[in-house]
Amino acid sequence: MADIPTTTFTDRTGKEFLIRTAQTADAENLLSYIRAVADETEFFVLESDEFPPTVEAERTWVQDHVDHPGKILLVAEAEGHIIGNISFEAGPSRRIAHRGNLGISVTRAWRGRGVGTALLQRLLKWAEANPIIEKVALEVFATNDSAIRLYKKLGFIEQGVARKEVKLGPGRHVDVLSMYRFVKQL
Ligand SMILES: CC(C)(COP(=O)(O)OP(=O)(O)OC[C@H]1O[C@@H](n2cnc3c(N)ncnc32)[C@H](O)[C@@H]1OP(=O)(O)O)[C@@H](O)C(=O)NCCC(=O)NCCS
Repeated sequence: MADIPTTTFTDRTGKEFLIRTAQTADAENLLSYIRAVADETEFFVLESDEFPPTVEAERTWVQDHVDHPGKILLVAEAEGHIIGNISFEAGPSRRIAHRGNLGISVTRAWRGRGVGTALLQRLLKWAEANPIIEKVALEVFATNDSAIRLYKKLGFIEQGVARKEVKLGPGRHVDVLSMYRFVKQL
């Protein structure tokens, strides 16, 4: 079971936010949150209508992260509203269960204030303590400068580029970088 103690932070403007494990009761707010973020960014592979179609489906996804020892779903919250999230899923078969991919987002009004850094540091701390996870990986659009800077700042290294992997529209292809960080001495 992936669970972390709730921690309170102060952002760069002096406002408080907390980071905690998501629960199934968050499903409806999480779905609205992620759809809203998807509408304001072109850096997701999914568009807003491609996320789980119902609150029930979202609840199942959240519960899976709560139950599974190699998965975690954290939210950042301020004044009762979700302002960011990070998720991680270990590989689904034995030979890739030691590694997994993360996904992270922060709502636009809160970007550049340290929330993404706090979420990623919290995830890495959990991964370091997890007895199975050895490698945390991610994929990021090569055009997503602020995300790439965040990942490099926290020790992620590029391991490859998939050319024209995403198609935003006619003739609008984007390369995707694959990055990783080991969380154990291998
Ligand atoms: C990527 C994202 C999660 C970062 O979250 P954030 O809360 O803004 O991150 P932070 O404020 O902690 O900043 C972390 C680092 O990112 C970089 N960064 C943040 N804002 C930046 C900006 N406007 N321009 C360039 N770099 C920026 C900096 O390196 C910063 O570290 P520093 O301030 O110590 O130099 C956020 O921008 C986001 O949700 N973007 C849209 C969704 C997305 O792209 N998700 C990632 C998909 S792979």
